[in-house]
Amino acid sequence: MGAYLRRYWHPIGAVSQFEAPGARPIRILGEDLTLYQDLSGAFGLVDRHCPHRRADLSYGYVEACGLRCNYHGWLFGPDGRCLEQPYDDVANPQARFKDKVTVKAYPVRALGGLLWTYMGPDPAPCLPDWEPFSWKNGFVQIVFAEVPCNWLQAQENSIDPVHFEWMHSNWSVRLRGETGPYGPRHLKVDFEEFEYGLIYKRIREDTDQASDLWTVGRVALWPTGFYLGDHFEWRTPIDDETILSITWAFSRVPQEMEPFEQGLIPSWTGPLREPDGRWITSHVMNQDFVAWVGQGAIADRTQEHLAASDKGVSMMRRRFLAELDAVGSGAEPTATIRDEAQNVRVPLPAANKDFYLNGLPQARMTRHPTVGSPLRRYPFQAGQPEAVRLAFEAAMGFDRAPAEAAE
Ligand code: FES
Ligand SMILES: [Fe+2]
Repeated sequence: MGAYLRRYWHPIGAVSQFEAPGARPIRILGEDLTLYQDLSGAFGLVDRHCPHRRADLSYGYVEACGLRCNYHGWLFGPDGRCLEQPYDDVANPQARFKDKVTVKAYPVRALGGLLWTYMGPDPAPCLPDWEPFSWKNGFVQIVFAEVPCNWLQAQENSIDPVHFEWMHSNWSVRLRGETGPYGPRHLKVDFEEFEYGLIYKRIREDTDQASDLWTVGRVALWPTGFYLGDHFEWRTPIDDETILSITWAFSRVPQEMEPFEQGLIPSWTGPLREPDGRWITSHVMNQDFVAWVGQGAIADRTQEHLAASDKGVSMMRRRFLAELDAVGSGAEPTATIRDEAQNVRVPLPAANKDFYLNGLPQARMTRHPTVGSPLRRYPFQAGQPEAVRLAFEAAMGFDRAPAEAAE
């Protein structure tokens, strides 16, 4: 499976994690690496260890082009070539030993405020330019968590509509100390494949076939993503038993605040545990994390009893198994884009898209049944820093009209 996942671009960080050029350690797809931004602003991803005598490159210093090892000064470009070996360049310049040494390197691209890498064979597919990355007048934040379990059980959560009713709606009622009323029951679910993954659709007792829950559905984005209109989630594997959970969340500003231009997209990492060691359960993703890690470091599927609600999970598993066979025999992996002309603001099925594009007046927004509720607090993950909350409130105009915002 690891070789298969290497056929895709993966988000691994955020541009705003670099307040200044520098280097930081990172582990992705089971490899210990160094992510850096050099003095020209370019990003690179290289081995954690220097090929000279194995010093830790995450303590290296960045130059106008590339990263220099802090032990003997060897300099490596973003493509992994050794550009300088300061002592050897003086003592034995004819040998050009630097031409014979490379460090493992992967390409890094910035898009949507995220940093992405591709760790597979050439040629790399296009880095998908999903349409929401180009939406205007939005406040975006990027949220990380390091979750101690396998990525696939988390991704199976992306094709599991019924859990919303129990894990988010009803459990939140119980966590508030109430025993009801519970959220609307699911009456029907359906699943289908599309160009970029799988879609689930649902009818609840409060909705019908005209609802966007059925006509649009929600997207399990192949292979590790989840897309729900106003936000993406990715479950990037750090290794077999750890996920880098990444949320990219878009909040449309009210029409009164247009035009809104966001500078650097803020990013933050949320805590996972309460002081007593139990998992935090107050926010949507934290509740999901409880399910994922509760299934074990790697869920034992032989002990499961799949039921009618799990049709999407079965579809996803079958699709992964078929893909492993097909790509192992030389086929192109599904949901990759190879044509740059096609890779421009690629649309995905999105509920409330008209709102994200055109906005609403603040007073109508705050009363809106779907887009209004996330305005009161960041709903997806615990631990939003105060500075990000204040920037969000300023973008929304809530700092100017706190009384109305609380309505
Ligand atoms: S160990 Fe890196 S330059 Fe010597
Ligand atoms: Fe969930």
